[in-house]
Amino acid sequence: MGKRVGVLMGGWGEEREISLKTGEAVVAALESKGHTVSRIFAGPGLDRALRSAELDVAFLALHGRMGEDGKVQGLLELMGLPYTGSGVLASALAMNKPMAKKLFRLHNLPTPQGYRVGRADSSRALELHGDLGFPCVVKPACGGSSVGLSVVREPEALVPAVVQACRFGGEALVERLARGREVTVGILGEEVLGTCEIATPREGFDYDAKYKGGSRYFLPARLSPTRLTNVESLALAAWRALGCRGYGRVDLICSDEDNDVILEVNTLPGLTPVSLLPKIAAQKGLDFPALVECLLTLATRDEVDVAEAPIVVPTVPHRAAS
Ligand SMILES: Nc1ncnc2c1ncn2[C@@H]1O[C@H](COP(=O)(O)OP(=O)(O)O)[C@@H](O)[C@H]1O
Ligand SMILES: [Mg+2]
Repeated sequence: MGKRVGVLMGGWGEEREISLKTGEAVVAALESKGHTVSRIFAGPGLDRALRSAELDVAFLALHGRMGEDGKVQGLLELMGLPYTGSGVLASALAMNKPMAKKLFRLHNLPTPQGYRVGRADSSRALELHGDLGFPCVVKPACGGSSVGLSVVREPEALVPAVVQACRFGGEALVERLARGREVTVGILGEEVLGTCEIATPREGFDYDAKYKGGSRYFLPARLSPTRLTNVESLALAAWRALGCRGYGRVDLICSDEDNDVILEVNTLPGLTPVSLLPKIAAQKGLDFPALVECLLTLATRDEVDVAEAPIVVPTVPHRAAS
């Protein structure tokens, strides 16, 4: 039966444009499946827009800060509305790359060595850099789509790169540059859906390569069956370490000489027909509308429900006036 679905799109962050593309693609797919769809443009007054739309479920077509980072998920939890993708905590952890890195380490999962620098400390970046070496990668701690990311090859370029990355949220992550194949693992429900290798003409998968073409895709990634199995289980372990659910994508660098390393977990990856997760789904025989329908059926809320487990506020006895 058709549902009343609100597609949340737009938003506040740097990835607004991509979010609008994801949103429109999702709206068309949901309508083709017989749902009644409202476009909900995320911004100030989102709570009122959600309330007046009278929805059964929210489909999150948001990317990046203030959308993928748990804040909108928190609002939906409070409103009692199921939504697609991960819950509040997992979304927040995955969006914050230094935090996610800590958890990967805690679970003994390989990730490039790195450190976090706040805006206030950006002039001390060289001091903090220690023996990390060059080249290194500098990126916003809470960013996406490679916005604000740079590869730094010599010490003099470090501070400017940190300042640039800090423009997007006030914190940067500096990481050792990992060399190898760029692989992303699609996850659907609790399982690996498939892998995609991205080969770019330039080093690093930058914003232009991501969104303006020029990259080549290999599905599955060009790895031996054994390595593919390892990479898939690594991705699933990273996904579980952060407590994600619904669907997502894990980005890794797979090296022939070194360890495979986890770069990040994307809890709301792009969903246009040319985005990576839909490419992986198509290769597995799941066309775009079928994928979107599947994501909708996985929509849920955090398990602990305030209505089911009310918080009992103890009454404090009044002190007798003396
Ligand atoms: N430590 C690293 N070593 C090598 N390449 C990296 C590293 N960090 C990022 N990159 C490159 O930059 C791209 C974007 O980085 P990522 O951490 O996935 O952030 P986001 O996709 O959120 O911008 C990656 O797909 C990869 O090509
Ligand atoms: Mg990425």
